[in-house]
Amino acid sequence: MEIKGCVGLVTGGNRGIGEAFVRVLLESGAQKVYAGSRDPAAAAHLVEQYPGRCIALELDVTDYDEVARAATECGDVSLVVNNAGLFSNQTLLGAPDMSIARQEMEVNFFGTLAMCRAFAPVLARNGGGGIINVLSAAALCPIPNMGGYGPSKAATRSLSGCVRAELAGQGTQVTALIVGSVDTRMAAHVEGGKEKPDDIARAGLRAVTRGIDELDTDRMAVEVRAALALDPKGLERRMARMLNVPVIRTGR
Ligand SMILES: NC(=O)c1ccc[n+]([C@@H]2O[C@H](COP(=O)([O-])OP(=O)(O)OC[C@H]3O[C@@H](n4cnc5c(N)ncnc54)[C@H](OP(=O)(O)O)[C@@H]3O)[C@@H](O)[C@H]2O)c1
Repeated sequence: MEIKGCVGLVTGGNRGIGEAFVRVLLESGAQKVYAGSRDPAAAAHLVEQYPGRCIALELDVTDYDEVARAATECGDVSLVVNNAGLFSNQTLLGAPDMSIARQEMEVNFFGTLAMCRAFAPVLARNGGGGIINVLSAAALCPIPNMGGYGPSKAATRSLSGCVRAELAGQGTQVTALIVGSVDTRMAAHVEGGKEKPDDIARAGLRAVTRGIDELDTDRMAVEVRAALALDPKGLERRMARMLNVPVIRTGR
């Protein structure tokens, strides 16, 4: 998978980490990038910045007709970045009903699955290419207070492994990114140091070009993986402090 000359598609490409992927791809020599967004007008600033190279694409990943249409209209794509994500900041049991957890699953898991299914044949026709799935440190360990988000990212981590195996035969590289804390709207409530979205995008592109299956993109992701092995209870306490929520005691 080479970035120079590739054609990318980024879901949730209008802001945050998705916008960074669009920009970094284009700055790194991608021929063209489709910035998928629920409201294409939200990506107008990128279209203006990169005329003819950034294409705004209406794409809600939970709307399977739109996903199918995107696969038909964007037949030249060789790299799909499944970045669109939803974090509702609710607890699993404390939320008023299950609709919030279900919606997180719809966007984070089924949205990614729908994109993989629709674009697998496109990638095959274009020589294999790659898929980047933007996951989270919450995919590695249960983080109380992160409601349905963590389970949806853990499921998508598992999905990444299955899809990788299914697409190996057609030469598609599937790279999962374990992302810590990044300075975007999603993490506005999080205290402490946050990474720059561009750095996450650069790490992701390096990983897919080097054939890396799963990458911890930043310091926090690395630390979570290490703490999980060394001191899972301490990790729980630190996460609660960082997220500014009460520690949930789950026993020893
Ligand atoms: N920020 C962090 O600390 C952090 C940490 C770990 C992982 N991540 C992951 O990084 C990815 C990007 O998040 P971010 O931090 O950049 O958050 P963000 O600024 O909140 O951006 C989320 C993006 O996803 C889009 N989106 C939400 N639902 C969608 C749907 N149904 N269809 C298409 N697009 C949809 C949003 O579109 P609208 O503008 O239309 O709402 C927006 O473009 C997510 O997968 C997130 O889980 C973030």
